Amino acid sequence: MNYPIWYLPETGGGFLIALIAILHVFVSHFAVGGGLYLIYCEKKGLAENSQKILDFTKRHARFFLLVTMVFGSITGVGIWFIIALVSPAGASLLVHNFVFGWAAEWVFFTVEIAAAFVYYYMFEKMDSKTHLQVGWLYFISAWISLLLINGIIGVMLTPGAWAENHNFWTGFFNPSFWPSLFFRTFIAILIAGCYGYLSSAFTSDREVHAAMTRFSGKWALAALIGAVPSGIWYLSVLPVPAKDLVMGKSPTIAWVLQWGLVAVILLLIITLVAGILRPAWNLKAVSMVSMVCGLLIIGSFEWTREAARRPYVINEVMYSNSILKKDMDRLNSDGYLKSALWIRNRELSDSNRVEAGRELYIHQCYPCHTLGEVITILSN
Ligand code: HEC
Repeated sequence: MNYPIWYLPETGGGFLIALIAILHVFVSHFAVGGGLYLIYCEKKGLAENSQKILDFTKRHARFFLLVTMVFGSITGVGIWFIIALVSPAGASLLVHNFVFGWAAEWVFFTVEIAAAFVYYYMFEKMDSKTHLQVGWLYFISAWISLLLINGIIGVMLTPGAWAENHNFWTGFFNPSFWPSLFFRTFIAILIAGCYGYLSSAFTSDREVHAAMTRFSGKWALAALIGAVPSGIWYLSVLPVPAKDLVMGKSPTIAWVLQWGLVAVILLLIITLVAGILRPAWNLKAVSMVSMVCGLLIIGSFEWTREAARRPYVINEVMYSNSILKKDMDRLNSDGYLKSALWIRNRELSDSNRVEAGRELYIHQCYPCHTLGEVITILSN
């Protein structure tokens, strides 16, 4: 309402956010869980006195560094770029309320990035006890960055009393803070297992291939077992409109969740069969399928979380078309064309009805209804 609109009639901005965000989240959760995975791989190598497993850990650390530090960072900045263009009012409201949360997150990012580089480049160049401590420093700061962003994005779905009082701590520790933190932690660990399958599958040494596949299998199984109750807990704290949408009221959420469920079942089968029972079956193609499953699980979760707060971008506070809930009555009586900035047709006449309608569509409806068919179906 107070900002010009970046009009993409075919795709809509929400689709761009989803595309970048899901890829980013897939990598950023790996950045958290993968840190813990590296620590335990290294411990396994040290405990079994196996140079081959230590070599595997180092190779995996290199892959980890490239994926999280390059792709993860670029897509992370990409999200900021896109949300600021697609929903400037929403981004501004969050920044004005939670800037210190983000500032703290960036502090932990910096520690995380430094620790990751030290971990990789000092592998076997420092004593293993200190090296493992660097690994823990990495993992703990990465997990705290998850904790911090979890508080901020949680408020968008379950604002609780924050919707009224706008108090930082009320918003940060919103009703879904704890279940979402647990759920995301398990998902992060699960995704680390999927990446573990991938690295194992690309290992030519058969012994290491089998050992690390089985290790990743047990890892992924433990994460799946933890993710189920925390997912149910998460669902139970949602406010009624969101819960109804998730539980079947919205046909698109039902469709997206179905894909998520297929991915969970497939990943469970891969984990039990090609992970734990017959690690030799963790072929390159199988490990790629487990990566796709991980992406689908993350994708359907994030999609559902974003879609469950509709019609709001910040639940109970701001609608998806950037109109504040508290401004509704005023806008209804004064008229949107007269109140919004960046409008050309302020007065209605017979000659400008269509043009004014087009402007109203772009401002009020386009955030949810695009003109392209396929994507309209997806984003509805
Ligand atoms: C916050 C998102 C959002 C906004 C903004 C929005 N809509 Fe919708 N609209 C939806 C959703 C979601 C549905 C599907 C509802 C359902 O199926 O229960 C829908 C359905 C519709 C339908 C029915 C379509 C059908 O095939 O049954 C029409 C017509 C419609 N919207 C028009 C508009 C107009 C006109 C505007 C702007 C003034 C607008 N919408 C703004 C989300 C939105």
